[in-house]
Amino acid sequence: MKRIIVVNGPNLNLLGKREPHIYGTRSLADLLKVVRAKAKELGVTVSVFQSNDEGAIIDFLQKEAPGALGIVINPAALSHYSLALYDCLQALEVPTVEVHISNIHAREEFRSKSITARAARGVITGLGFKGYELAMEFLVSQ
Ligand code: DQA
Repeated sequence: MKRIIVVNGPNLNLLGKREPHIYGTRSLADLLKVVRAKAKELGVTVSVFQSNDEGAIIDFLQKEAPGALGIVINPAALSHYSLALYDCLQALEVPTVEVHISNIHAREEFRSKSITARAARGVITGLGFKGYELAMEFLVSQ
């Protein structure tokens, strides 16, 4: 069965409690429910991972992503500075969609630049949890 990897970066474990006016009131568990339901609908399996640790995310991707249909990743703050995660995504050569819950272009200046986005096929930003579902649909459609 085809497999999609869904990764969430630092502080996304706090979804629901963290700045709800920006990220909403639904939790990471709620997000994973949405992701799993979408995977079922699309007929794919899904491996999900969240960590506050850059190295743990890279280790997970190196181990789990080879052979996957694609990666949906919200690198969170790592987007804005992690060359190591960028290099990892480049090295894997697995189609990747970067997702941000908030619109990174409508916020502080430093958020509008994503280093990791250069390794992605595309970026969905500002569409909330829906962005994850759209990213999964795209990966399955190619
Ligand atoms: C985020 C946007 C990032 O700038 C921020 O550091 C996050 C979450 C988003 O999903 O909107 O942690 O990736």
